[in-house]
Amino acid sequence: MGHEARANEAEDGRTVQLPALPAPEAEPSMAAEVATIATTESLDAGGRTVAEAVETGALRLVSLPASVASAPALSAIDAPAWAGTAEQTDVFMEWAADTMRSTLPAEAVAALEEFKAGHGPPALLLRGLGVEGDLEGTDEPRGDPLHYVKVSGARSETCILGATALFGDRPHGPKELREPPAEGEAEKPQKTSVGHLISQRARVDSRSPAGSSVPLLLHRDGMFDEFGNYTETNELGEEIFLPDKLYLFCNRADPDSICTTYLHTMKHVYQMLSEGDRALLREVPMFFTMSEQDGTTTERMDRQRNQINPDRTGTVTIYGPEDNPTISLQEVRPVDRSRVPAEAADAYERLRTIANATRFAVPLMDGDLLILRNNKALHGRSTYEPRYDSSDRWIQRFSSYTPSQLEAATALLEATATAAAAAAATEPKAKL
Ligand SMILES: [Fe+2]
Repeated sequence: MGHEARANEAEDGRTVQLPALPAPEAEPSMAAEVATIATTESLDAGGRTVAEAVETGALRLVSLPASVASAPALSAIDAPAWAGTAEQTDVFMEWAADTMRSTLPAEAVAALEEFKAGHGPPALLLRGLGVEGDLEGTDEPRGDPLHYVKVSGARSETCILGATALFGDRPHGPKELREPPAEGEAEKPQKTSVGHLISQRARVDSRSPAGSSVPLLLHRDGMFDEFGNYTETNELGEEIFLPDKLYLFCNRADPDSICTTYLHTMKHVYQMLSEGDRALLREVPMFFTMSEQDGTTTERMDRQRNQINPDRTGTVTIYGPEDNPTISLQEVRPVDRSRVPAEAADAYERLRTIANATRFAVPLMDGDLLILRNNKALHGRSTYEPRYDSSDRWIQRFSSYTPSQLEAATALLEATATAAAAAAATEPKAKL
């Protein structure tokens, strides 16, 4: 099924009436443009161009010289052994960061440093990193389709983990939240894996990275449940259970040039909301209806939620300063209207509609590395039609956390566990 068939349908199949858009405060020129897009584009396809994303400060694009794409160092032929164990990861990351520093032009290294410091757009695209010369096909999975390997090197891993190391970030979330080993099984060592986003025949219609017939509307990555994202913060204001940065490396672009990555900044979206909606979304806690697909992981989510905060309640959608807000947008989860006042639920739907109607489309090209700040930018993906003939789109995805996020997350989890143990110890006495 093509894009057109879904025109003007929301993610749940309903027809969407796009609301009249309020005039943005800071960028009046955007208002007319937004109005045009809202009436001519569906929520499932389209978006403003890369050039517009750069112009409006949503994206920083660094085009690299051809010498980078052919630089053998990035293919990691002489790299330390790479199998993803914790010790190897640290050695590999250090090597990868040195390789990035010595291979990329000064402008690109400076762009990474500025991104680390939080300056400039919340999305950085390094274009022209190159790809391996002998990429495998992704048509018929051999073994676990999420563990494709490349024949000759680790160029994408070098670029992704090199950038992670340059940021001073860590490649894992809080380890306490990993799946515990099954009974009688030894705990598996923590491994670093860079995920593979490819369309899989069996999951083509799923709303997941392995699907392709369903668009992924704008969202940010991280743990969520019916209370929304896990937004606990540390003293630096960092959300400690959500990745700080996301990385998308394009090994192979969609050969039909249909697939595009969607991008938006929370700041731009905020500017387009009415004063009333901003206030509602800053004040009213949201609750969501989990889908059948989400339900498969409900047990794990409940366990995680209890580990973090057993007394959890809904969280607000927008927080942070007016000029640099964070917007916690769930991709498709409908607001639970039995627990949320109608006016706030309506405001949330307007937010989702306005964001998707005004997003940027960033078609990734071979050798692109797109890095996003997960608390300042939203991302998504259009539909596309895989060929299953070894030429399909192949993106690698990764996320990183700051050391201060992990430190606070670990401390919070330990404190909750201690409190739970203390409560369990006193419980029998209380019953006497
Ligand atoms: Fe995502």
